[in-house]
Amino acid sequence: MSRRRRIYEGKAKVLYEGPEPGTIVQYFKDDATAHNGTKKAVISGKGVLNNRISEYLMTRLSEIGVPTHFMRRLNMREQLIHEVEIIPLEVVVRNIAAGSFSKRFNVPEGTPLPRSIIEYYLKSDELNDPMVSEEHITAFGWANAQDLDDIVSLSLRVNDYLTGLFLGIGLKLVDFKLEFGRLYDENDEMRIVLADEISPDNCRLWDVQTNEKFDKDRFRQDLGGVLEAYQEVARRLGILPEGSVVDIRENQVAP
Ligand SMILES: Nc1ncnc2c1ncn2[C@@H]1O[C@H](COP(=O)(O)OP(=O)(O)O)[C@@H](O)[C@H]1O
Ligand SMILES: [Mg+2]
Repeated sequence: MSRRRRIYEGKAKVLYEGPEPGTIVQYFKDDATAHNGTKKAVISGKGVLNNRISEYLMTRLSEIGVPTHFMRRLNMREQLIHEVEIIPLEVVVRNIAAGSFSKRFNVPEGTPLPRSIIEYYLKSDELNDPMVSEEHITAFGWANAQDLDDIVSLSLRVNDYLTGLFLGIGLKLVDFKLEFGRLYDENDEMRIVLADEISPDNCRLWDVQTNEKFDKDRFRQDLGGVLEAYQEVARRLGILPEGSVVDIRENQVAP
């Protein structure tokens, strides 16, 4: 592998300087973390699957006019993306009660919500990603009212599209987390675009028939079969990389 400048190493990915200014190479690791980084493991092959799944979903979304940072997949573990100024928010869209929502509001997991609910969390490991309101976001200047308008309308379009896409392969999109960034064009015009990744690491996906979980809750809750679940999502999407689980597991290094 050529020597590239490493810009950032996060919990699930590494960012390298891209070949052209304004581009980044996003490398998908096999590391899994939960409960704000206190639970850690390596799930061999996860990075390969998330790279593929995120490529697929970002591509479908850009086809329906949702702007994204995605440019192209480079190899098994890497994709080329536009560098954006990340808005430091985790934007969560919920359709069915689960996880922290069920705890906070004492709503049993699996309860369908009367309508889709958008929540914001500040991206801050030190502060444990606290939930914030639009008031906090605009007062602290993390995003302005126009940015938030764009974020809400994009999030709802993503939700509508992905809900249908997953239903078509027998999966309920229970909830998911998005990140957005500011992308500047050659005339210095700014657009809000979808960034980061969309994968079973940040979506809850339940089988329509059985409610079996096909997402990171298998890791959080020690249910086992994490890689097999991610692989099943890829298989149902029709994008399983060639080879068996073993082949994916053995593919530790990008070709
Ligand atoms: N297009 C982009 N430009 C710049 N930064 C990005 C882009 N897409 C995602 N990021 C950031 O890159 C990091 C991805 O690595 P990840 O392992 O998810 O990190 P973290 O542990 O901070 O969540 C995140 O901090 C995310 O906000
Ligand atoms: Mg992340």
